[in-house]
Amino acid sequence: MKRALVSGATGQDGSWLAEQLVDKGYEVHGIIRRSSTINTERLDHLYEDPACAPDRRLVLHFGDMTDPLALVDVLGKVQPDEVYHLAAQSHVRVSFDVPCYTADVDALGTLRLLEAVRLICPRARVYVAGSSEMFGAAPPPQNERTPFDPQSPYAAAKVFSYHIARNYRRAHGLHVTCGILMNHESERRGETFVTRKVTRAVGRIRAGTQAKLFLGNLDARRDWGYAPDYTDAMFRMLQLDEPRDLVIGTGESHTVREWVEAAFAAADLDWHDYVEIHPRYLRPAEVDHLRADASEARRVLGWEPTVGFADLVGRMVRHDVNLALTEKRC
Ligand code: NAP
Ligand code: GDD
Repeated sequence: MKRALVSGATGQDGSWLAEQLVDKGYEVHGIIRRSSTINTERLDHLYEDPACAPDRRLVLHFGDMTDPLALVDVLGKVQPDEVYHLAAQSHVRVSFDVPCYTADVDALGTLRLLEAVRLICPRARVYVAGSSEMFGAAPPPQNERTPFDPQSPYAAAKVFSYHIARNYRRAHGLHVTCGILMNHESERRGETFVTRKVTRAVGRIRAGTQAKLFLGNLDARRDWGYAPDYTDAMFRMLQLDEPRDLVIGTGESHTVREWVEAAFAAADLDWHDYVEIHPRYLRPAEVDHLRADASEARRVLGWEPTVGFADLVGRMVRHDVNLALTEKRC
């Protein structure tokens, strides 16, 4: 049985990946950080799965990307075959408020993990979560040859992560792969990212528990895909014998306004009646347009997105309309 260690296991991607790896027969270990509130909501259903808890197929360990000794300790205990490094302060807007913390977790955190892998389990294969945000102001379509032009502390930290991953590959011969993923969303997306913020609002407006939705820049364009497709791409990347960095995305982009319009329409609502612009949600610097040229990943991994824009909006709206009704009844 192969053993995988997932940092950021409690996040959107970590939870989908843990589920997929358990289904593939892996013993999955996740790093979670201590929190005063419950932060395992996205994983709890896995513990109800008899394949997981009783057989110890999913095991959680406390750790933090700012604590190198804890990372050494977990790696030593788990001795993983594959490490998926997903943990990050992942909110771009928030990275302008806490730039030093973001750099510590997202940039140095990756370095701490790679150094710990080098010392403890150098034969493990490592996936490092890069981001299309690294392309920043570079015009679309973006691919593996597009120069980075980061527009936020988050993006700058991810560019460091990308370069240090490549350095550990070249200098120390580690099997490290950096995935450069476009935005990916799901019913488990954090509620302050724009897609989920909108679908949660649509659900609550339909349930009569929210009146208005305040947003920032509606003109930004993103290449939105479905998160489980992207965690599947992460897995496929780590199965390549020669590690390489790949861009993942659908190749189609839409404005935030189009997302808003589609989400409200899916619940028979007119967004003009509910949405207002608030300067709080504008960013000091914006990324205007991300759209992937993922032809290399399609060729090398045989990867294809399975969920398109309309389907993605529809799934998230249906989920959040039901969720808001359940919350209202409680
Ligand atoms: P997410 O939902 O925000 O999850 C982030 C995870 O990192 C959570 O488990 C979080 O723990 C954990 N974390 C945060 N700070 C930590 C720290 N100091 N030490 C240990 N763990 C920490 O993000 P996601 O959407 O799953 O994204 C996964 C990764 O892919 C991230 O690196 C993100 O930057 C990158 N990425 C995401 C996208 C996307 O569209 N989703 C696109 C490109 C790249 P808590 O649950 O306790 O907060
Ligand atoms: N979050 C948020 N909230 N974004 C808003 C809002 C709002 O109220 N109003 C407009 N937007 C715009 C943002 O300005 C941005 O242009 C776009 O919506 C998408 O914002 P987010 O959903 O926060 O995602 P992101 O593109 O900044 O970052 C996500 O994707 C990156 C990959 O490109 C995150 O998942 C990052 O972790 C990831 O690396």
